[in-house]
Amino acid sequence: MKPSASSKYDSVSRAFHWITALAVTVAFVLGPERFGRLMRDGVDPATRLDIVWHESLGIFVFFATLLRLLWVLFRPAAPKFDMASWMKLASQGTHIVLWALLLATPFTAVMALGTESHPLTLLGGIRINELPWTQQLPFSEAADWGDVHQFLGDAIVWLAGLHAVAALYHHYVVKDGVLRSMMPGKAR
Ligand code: HEM
Ligand code: HEM
Repeated sequence: MKPSASSKYDSVSRAFHWITALAVTVAFVLGPERFGRLMRDGVDPATRLDIVWHESLGIFVFFATLLRLLWVLFRPAAPKFDMASWMKLASQGTHIVLWALLLATPFTAVMALGTESHPLTLLGGIRINELPWTQQLPFSEAADWGDVHQFLGDAIVWLAGLHAVAALYHHYVVKDGVLRSMMPGKAR
């Protein structure tokens, strides 16, 4: 069921977008520095609120993104704007990479914890000491997953920042409705 495109994303898509953007930003700010050193010093990550919140928000982002992608299949058509074809391509390319990073960043974190035998510690006292499946995957030893995770964690925030600047450019320079399409309020 895909009625003709309105000037705004539907309210579920907008809620998913802003809740995810907030969760990614807070997770990034709480990104644990010198995690390996803390583990070697015998610190229990469950005693560190910053780590517990970082991991919980990241896991939330992963499952929220799966649900959101499911919603994309069934939602009303996304708004369409007239723009140069290079701009359309750049915007679609950015969205695809952002979607991939929203899944890959948390996934590589779980790989890092599992392959290095560190526990996953979440809010509500949830603790998973072992993630044996991470050590059985054909690519388990292909990388230092902690390094890959840090790289992707930085990349998602840089790319989202660029994407936000593009949205502001649309609003203030091109003066079209791209930014408004993701903002609260009623569609025209
Ligand atoms: C969108 C979600 C996430 C973002 C943006 C993100 C971002 C980051 C960043 C930037 C760092 C590096 C921090 C620094 O060195 O200053 C980091 C480290 C880390 N994150 Fe995440 N993260 C996310 C999800 C997760 C999840 C789901 C987990 C747990 C399952 C997790 C666990 C860790 C761990 C253990 C480290 C330390 C890695 C190491 O040094 O080996 N992160 N994260
Ligand atoms: C971590 C932060 C962010 C992430 C991961 C992110 C990701 C995404 C994704 C995946 C879409 C496609 C949405 C869909 O099809 O339902 C999107 C659309 C959009 N985002 Fe973001 N976003 C972030 C932050 C921002 C910020 C800060 C702004 C504004 C200043 C913004 C403005 C927009 C707009 C206007 C659209 C729809 C129009 C378009 O880009 O074509 N986003 N974003």
